[in-house]
Amino acid sequence: MNVEAASPILLFDSGVGGLTVYDALRKVLPQAPVIYAADLAGLPYGTKTEAQIAARVSGLLGRMAERYQPRLACIACNTASTIALGMVRDVLEIPVVGTVPAIKPAAALTRSGTIGLVGTEATIRQAYVDDLESRFGNGTRLLRIAAPGLVEAAEAKLRGRAVDPALIADVHDRLAAMPGGEAIDTLVLACTHFPLLAKELAAAFGPQVTQVDGAEGIARRIADLLEGQDFASTGPDRFLVTGPLAGAAGLEAALTARGFGPAEAF
Ligand code: DGL
Repeated sequence: MNVEAASPILLFDSGVGGLTVYDALRKVLPQAPVIYAADLAGLPYGTKTEAQIAARVSGLLGRMAERYQPRLACIACNTASTIALGMVRDVLEIPVVGTVPAIKPAAALTRSGTIGLVGTEATIRQAYVDDLESRFGNGTRLLRIAAPGLVEAAEAKLRGRAVDPALIADVHDRLAAMPGGEAIDTLVLACTHFPLLAKELAAAFGPQVTQVDGAEGIARRIADLLEGQDFASTGPDRFLVTGPLAGAAGLEAALTARGFGPAEAF
């Protein structure tokens, strides 16, 4: 087997949110070796400053790319992508795929013309999102809110802990209370953690609201970029965490179900 066939795809997030991208990627590239890196020592990104996030993400991805020689890196995190994608592309010599709020597909889907967008505090204030809205919003009304509690809830859910319904209800209520909020029929999950709470969100928002996230589009983009390449795994996919390995405690079932080996420290 040549080195290239074993060269992994590196998926990076602050935590387990990027597993929603991993799941979509597995469907289109089942045979590709993947290294998933969760920056648990830096979690959450959403409450950090732009400078902190940019320095952390580009530094870590630079070191990871050097160590694991991936063929492609995907920043499976909206917060990190909307802030640091350009910088990471400058640092790495491989293709870098980002994850940005799925405003374009949401604008194509909405019938009421009102879209809700739930992201982290850092994501919703980015000029990158203003730009997506003006280029692809197509005259729709986009109502944005930050929901940092959902990041924690998704992390807990994947560790087998219950999600507090009040947290989900609060997201619904805050969006509905915004001017025009009652007309929302499409909800952009602008954080890779949030599709892990799709069921809970659907229960709170009701069947008339369609959830949209970027995972499938990102997986397709990765597959397109790697078209024609050979893949050969040398073992189970690897799941790395920054900080103490104990941060991954409770994730065993979620990792095993996806075919990962035991969590490792980066
Ligand atoms: N998963 C990250 C995102 O897509 C954010 C989680 C965090 O705040 O670290 O934005």
